[in-house]
Amino acid sequence: MKLSYLWRGLPGHPLHPPLTDATIGAYTVATVLAFLCQIGVSEGNCTKGWWLALIVGLIVTGPTALTGFLDWLTISWGTPLWRTATLHLASMLTATTFFLIAALAGHDDYVAGSVSGGSFTLTLIGFAFLTLGGWLGGAVVFVHGMRVLSLVDEPTARAVSPAPSPEKEEAEGG
Ligand code: HEM
Repeated sequence: MKLSYLWRGLPGHPLHPPLTDATIGAYTVATVLAFLCQIGVSEGNCTKGWWLALIVGLIVTGPTALTGFLDWLTISWGTPLWRTATLHLASMLTATTFFLIAALAGHDDYVAGSVSGGSFTLTLIGFAFLTLGGWLGGAVVFVHGMRVLSLVDEPTARAVSPAPSPEKEEAEGG
């Protein structure tokens, strides 16, 4: 049992991916609500929902970015994996910046109960970078195979067990 499991997660169960689900989910809700406000499905409630979803996304981005960054530090610099992961980092930081500006500048919209065109545009740009970053994150995992153990014949009981078996530790690189 290594101390780094506390911030990197267990072999086969890294911490970053489940956190990304919460973050991407919150920003997706914000984007969908901003769109619904724009097409007039609802006004006040959906504006409140848009802004609150942005705030939830920004809060969850903290641990998400931190766990991703701690994994990124373990990658050998200058390798193709490092380049893909660094592009992922850049895209996610850009997305976060746009969502942050949308939330700060959009607080007046939240109070007024109406999403302005500017706030909607900022949210859409943030979502575009989030999508690009998700694509790049997928390449990091599913193309380069980062943190994937590929223990195809691992018995189910050991595969789902939180106990880091010797096979899992070895597959993760000792
Ligand atoms: C808004 C913040 C972020 C989001 C939403 C996000 C999202 C993702 C996604 C979707 C994946 C693919 C894994 C999966 O499909 O579950 C991934 C993998 C990864 N991301 Fe991020 N990411 C974020 C921030 C960062 C940051 C700042 C870094 C630092 C470089 C980073 C580094 C990594 C690494 C190294 C992986 C490979 C899998 C792992 O090590 O857990 N991410 N990310």
